[in-house]
Amino acid sequence: MAGPPRERTLDATLALLREGYGFMARRQAALGSDSFRTRLMGGQDVLCIKGEAAAEFFYAPDRFTRKGALPPTTLLSLQDLGSVQRLDGSAHRWRKRLFLQVLSPPAVTRLGDLFDAEWDARAALWRERGEATLYVEMGQVLTRAVCTWGGSPLGDHEAGRRAAEFQAMIEGAGAVGPRNWKGLALRSRTERWARRQVADARAGTHADSPLAAVAFHRDEAGELLPERTAAVEYLNLLRPTVAVDRFVVFCAMALHDQPEWRERLAGADGATYAAFAQEVRRFYPFFPAVGGRALQPFEWQGKRFKRGAWVLLDTHGTNRDPRAWREPERFDPGRFLRDEANAFNFCPQGAGDVSTGHRCPGEAAVVELMARATRRLVAMAYEVPPQDLSIDAGRMPAIPKSRFVIRLGR
Ligand code: HEM
Repeated sequence: MAGPPRERTLDATLALLREGYGFMARRQAALGSDSFRTRLMGGQDVLCIKGEAAAEFFYAPDRFTRKGALPPTTLLSLQDLGSVQRLDGSAHRWRKRLFLQVLSPPAVTRLGDLFDAEWDARAALWRERGEATLYVEMGQVLTRAVCTWGGSPLGDHEAGRRAAEFQAMIEGAGAVGPRNWKGLALRSRTERWARRQVADARAGTHADSPLAAVAFHRDEAGELLPERTAAVEYLNLLRPTVAVDRFVVFCAMALHDQPEWRERLAGADGATYAAFAQEVRRFYPFFPAVGGRALQPFEWQGKRFKRGAWVLLDTHGTNRDPRAWREPERFDPGRFLRDEANAFNFCPQGAGDVSTGHRCPGEAAVVELMARATRRLVAMAYEVPPQDLSIDAGRMPAIPKSRFVIRLGR
């Protein structure tokens, strides 16, 4: 067998940046195959795969490393050298336990409670002004909530600055050029701040906080993490939580586009809110793909690939794969009450087992925050004035052009 078809190109990176979320779907259709080969990042061969079976293959423990697996600029803006995502084998599992402990169910509830309190405090300001841009406001609310939760409560001035830094870093993740450079420049400022937090935690009395858990975490050999590594891991808790701002905007978009769901959610139970949040994570674009480099040779559709082969799992396409989802292009939270999802067909934040693989440890926190935000949006009286809510498929991570403006009565 010849294996997956190959796109005839010297390098498709510019097309990827232009087409964004549509890049893989377009090639799957043109080549008539879910799996295909192309060239990216300076002509490097890459195998793109999609679907439940592909996710199961990709997420088999220790099959792929994340080292050297993403466009370097993207990697720098999301996670950093020495972070849990760059570890493999037992060192990875050991560090991952830290994240799973810090994000325990009671800790997630505490984060949710802080989020609610910050939302309520901030909503008074929105009413006073009569208008709010949800994306900007969520950056503020989430930054304040997660920094208090982490162990670094922020004053008003500092909160604004940190929120702008986090949002710019996330904005820069899928870009090249100025948008990415801006993210990288702010990153070093944020990192200095996080290092100070770690140093202060180590110098002070031991408090029971995520910051202290990271600052006093010991590696497999019983050593404290270097200060810079601890700072990076602390930021790996804070920054992705702020990235939930995008998902909250998509919750508001879904309520706007599906007003019947606003009615159904009023007075609904927690399970229905969670199902709504899950469907938003499935339906709206965020991470287009996850990348890995093979730790051992493997075979895919009859073709042998060498150790080090680069593979991208099309997570966005997998979430909308008609083999796994009934009417995937329809927004239907009910599918999560009917158990259509499993550990591999649904992968907005990775797939498989969270403790042994690289699946995101923040999923419970994300769903909790989205469900709470939706509850508040449903309870709040606001209008959506005319604005450009279109989503540019070529811009990653995605966001509606207007950032979702709402108008409130005073
Ligand atoms: C805003 C929504 C979020 C999205 C879309 C997201 C997405 C992802 C994705 C796609 C991965 C990579 C999976 C892989 O390489 O196989 C990942 C890993 C990770 N995420 Fe998230 N995430 C989000 C929120 C969070 C939150 C709230 C936290 C922590 C509080 C978090 C912490 C991490 C960490 C530490 C990893 C590395 C895990 C590992 O390598 O084992 N993320 N996330």
